[in-house]
Amino acid sequence: MITHLLRSFFFLLFFSYSLQAVEQGNAGFQPAIASAHPLATDAGIEILQKGGNAFDAAIAVTATLAVVEPYSSGLGGGGFWLLHIADRDRNVMLDGRERAPLNASRDMYLDEQGNVKPGASIDGPLSAGIPGVVAVIEKLAKQYGKLPLSVSLAAAIRHANEGFRVDEHYRRMAGFRLQSLLSSEDAARTFLHDNKVPEVDALIVQPDLAKTLEIIVRQGAKGFYRGEVAQKLVASVQKHGGIWSLKDLEDYEVIERAPMVVVYKGMKFVTASPPSSGGIALPQMLNMLSRYNIEEKGAAARTHLLVEVMRRAYRDRAEFLGDPDFVDIPADRLISSVYTSMLVKDIKRSATPSSSLKPVAEPAGKGSDTTHFSIIDKDGNRVSATLSINYPFGSGFIAEGTGILLNDEMDDFSAKPGEPNVYGLVGAEANAIEPGKRMLSSMSPSFLETANRTAILGTPGGSRIITMVLLATLDFHQGASAEQMVKLGRFHHQYLPDKIFYEPGVIGEKVKSELIKSGHTLEQLESDYGNMQVVIVDKKSKKSEAASDPRGGGKATVIH
Ligand code: DON
Repeated sequence: MITHLLRSFFFLLFFSYSLQAVEQGNAGFQPAIASAHPLATDAGIEILQKGGNAFDAAIAVTATLAVVEPYSSGLGGGGFWLLHIADRDRNVMLDGRERAPLNASRDMYLDEQGNVKPGASIDGPLSAGIPGVVAVIEKLAKQYGKLPLSVSLAAAIRHANEGFRVDEHYRRMAGFRLQSLLSSEDAARTFLHDNKVPEVDALIVQPDLAKTLEIIVRQGAKGFYRGEVAQKLVASVQKHGGIWSLKDLEDYEVIERAPMVVVYKGMKFVTASPPSSGGIALPQMLNMLSRYNIEEKGAAARTHLLVEVMRRAYRDRAEFLGDPDFVDIPADRLISSVYTSMLVKDIKRSATPSSSLKPVAEPAGKGSDTTHFSIIDKDGNRVSATLSINYPFGSGFIAEGTGILLNDEMDDFSAKPGEPNVYGLVGAEANAIEPGKRMLSSMSPSFLETANRTAILGTPGGSRIITMVLLATLDFHQGASAEQMVKLGRFHHQYLPDKIFYEPGVIGEKVKSELIKSGHTLEQLESDYGNMQVVIVDKKSKKSEAASDPRGGGKATVIH
């Protein structure tokens, strides 16, 4: 079932890509934006052209994606925004991840026999964590941006009022989540037409969402976390079996965290820290790889080494990682040189069966659409942000009268020890449900810096986000362009299931048979996956390039 859902889901990721240049003279860096939707990229570019900085543009892109990509992210969801503040040469992570409601409990998705209730952490308001996006929007505006929300939210409000057009991707996503959307009156009215998936070019208008956005313009985050909108959110959630309280919303806070930084063969790698699991897994994998001349290996030996490195990092993810404010993550140890030596010690020419690695202590277990954008402005400020409501259309539930589609991020927790979530990820005690705790995430917005170039990158893709970012990082290190990075063929291993998953055609027959000889099991996926957005700037010439994944329908624009 899970494999089936996952397959169907990844089958939904596809599309063409476009790169545009906009004329605008200036002496600084060439501003650029790559995002998963053309209207969102355009909204961000408009803000940069009105004198806003990367952080104002990030607000416009975040809010527009929330309106025009309702299957991917939204005001009812969360995410991680990695910022580079150029004049202070400082990197900051804004953790706007959802939190478990205060009434949540460890076994809330289990039946009397202790089995996970199918769908309970995926459909309807019981699956929703307390959203963080609006709190981040306010923080970006107050602390980092220059423009008022009336300007940076204008495009999102316009698209909510005037509507956006349905495309094939929308139709697939809505078809995939039809049952769930049908069980919420407001969601069915908003996202379906006559209770059916709308035709291509139909208009999706969201007047309630526009009103909520207007309240946020007037009142800031208070207009969402308190007052009338908060009351409507809580009343509707409770009426339909959810457990949110007003206190949950009042208590929500964005957390500023120090990003994770490692140096890989002379390249600085900066990424979101926990509760992003990429914050530990990516440094671990890069540390292990720094011990090898991967650049000189043939395709089979290179794939083997990468898979062994992925396997070890995902094993540790399952055991050690969770919300750092609730569990003690031995981060320093996990990314230390001594620990790296121990991890690589048993990497041999043949595959290490995952079952032969130390089992995950007291396993507890478990997360499908999400989005990413990358921005640089003329001053060199950068934003790399990955945002999510988890599954396509999140929980499928719109709180009545608010236009807010709620996430189903609770599925990213371990509902039960050892039980895989929708992405097949297993977890442990560290990621068990607790009131107020943030669920572990794979979202890994990142910056890469070599002597000559800086890259801003990230992608959706559930458990595969981390390995996509790894492969693109290694490609950049070897001189790849933004376009090459987004086009790169992908493969993935996540410890369990003990299998190499790969995009159609990415591993050829010869390499495949060598890998099988080394003891690996391989599965070619039915379709591509991921939707990577990359901006690269050349430090000397200050020229930028940007690319949007050809598998998605996004758009990359460089202002000249
Ligand atoms: O935070 C996470 O790891 C997941 N909720 C992300 C889900 C995702 O990327 C689905 N995308 N295709």
